[in-house]
Amino acid sequence: MNQTINIKINPKVFNKVYIPYLKCESRIQIFYGGSSSGKSVFLAQRDVIKLLKGGRNILVCRQLKNTLRGSVIQEINKVITDWNISSLFEINKTDGTITCIENGYQIVFAGLDDVEKLKSITPLKGVFTDIRIEEATEIEYKSYKQLKKRLRGKTQDGIKKIVTFSFNPILQSHWIYEIFFAKINWADDQTKYQDDQISILKTTYKDNLRFLERDDVDDLENEDDKYYYDVYTLGMWGILGEVIFTNWKVKDLSAMMNQFTNHRAGLDFGFSSDPAALSVMHYDKKRAQLYIYDEFYDRGLTNQELAKVIIDMIGTQPVTCDSSEPKSIQELKEKGVKALSAKKGKDSVNFGIQWLQGLEIFVDSKCVNCKAEFSTYHWKKDKDGNALRVPVDKKNHLIDAIRYGMEDDMENMRTSININAQTSNYARDMGDKDKKWGIK
Ligand SMILES: Nc1ncnc2c1ncn2[C@@H]1O[C@H](COP(=O)(O)OP(=O)(O)OP(=O)(O)O)[C@@H](O)[C@H]1O
Ligand SMILES: [Mg+2]
Repeated sequence: MNQTINIKINPKVFNKVYIPYLKCESRIQIFYGGSSSGKSVFLAQRDVIKLLKGGRNILVCRQLKNTLRGSVIQEINKVITDWNISSLFEINKTDGTITCIENGYQIVFAGLDDVEKLKSITPLKGVFTDIRIEEATEIEYKSYKQLKKRLRGKTQDGIKKIVTFSFNPILQSHWIYEIFFAKINWADDQTKYQDDQISILKTTYKDNLRFLERDDVDDLENEDDKYYYDVYTLGMWGILGEVIFTNWKVKDLSAMMNQFTNHRAGLDFGFSSDPAALSVMHYDKKRAQLYIYDEFYDRGLTNQELAKVIIDMIGTQPVTCDSSEPKSIQELKEKGVKALSAKKGKDSVNFGIQWLQGLEIFVDSKCVNCKAEFSTYHWKKDKDGNALRVPVDKKNHLIDAIRYGMEDDMENMRTSININAQTSNYARDMGDKDKKWGIK
């Protein structure tokens, strides 16, 4: 233990723009900006270097525990294998914890939804000196405050405690903007800031061209929606004019679960670029309220794996699925899921949106992807900036799933609207006739 580890890392493995941040000691460090700018890879590299140097234990978090393995855990493991230093670490297969065999320091992973684990988590030796929050816009301010408490305890002399954030700047109204950016009067065209307390670095795909394929760059450069272009291509704080849904609130629904009896579920399929998305809800028809109390949102699952997830979450309750994948629906059925095919029908997207706009919607605090979709789902704009009545078909997987899940309830409404419309025409015609015929 405590031997010096001597390994040479070729500086070429790093994206140059981040190299100064290998030694940054600001208390809060923010890496934000556009998509594919190299943030996650760099921070994974830096975690490994910190671990090798010793003296620091790192707690790496995301909001949802089940997203850790497919992102941060994988990224850090990839650095270790790429650098051919696996023999220096012991990796726990269950929770991903990485221990440096030579010095005993650790990288520990935690989901902020796993509160009990978070409370009890401690490193093998010493205290946590670093907290790293990946996709930090997913987390609420109160979780951040809670997390900071995890940095309690004395470190060895001179070792500073650091909280690192990385994210895409989805909305300027986010608490991260309020508490870190607004305070220092961050300007739109600024890319760097640093003092003892806080460092901020903004990067975009342009900073990472060396490591990107032409297709990745084309996708970002050809983005035709202004909001997505600003946020994911240019890395600017997102400002949305007209979002589609304003009739929703975040609420902790855990205490209400036993009142939820009128369950609905919807599923949108996805595998590589799009996620599979499941929304689970309770519909209070009398009060016109919809409670979205659970979600699943992940990529790369086979239909067999997806079936298991669905059964774990909703048992054999019916789930209405995107009808464009009949084979997948059949496979889910064979694995015991009560999968139904959505009927969709004429103008179903806009009709569904309009119907959902007429409800009061509550989204459970743990449903981070649903919150993100409701926050940013917006209408297309024409070239003069006028909103068209066409939604931008992006980051709407759970919203589509909600529409599928609520389809029968909407259909009943659609039928009754049609009947009402017909009766009123009929009544008007009759009224006219009545007048003609002199009947009161
Ligand atoms: N130092 C590196 N060495 C090799 N490849 C890299 C490196 N940095 C980035 N890349 C490549 O660039 C891709 C994008 O980088 P990364 O995932 O870190 O971007 P990001 O800024 O975290 O993006 P997002 O905002 O979408 O999460 C990676 O998947 C990887 O293929
Ligand atoms: Mg990333």
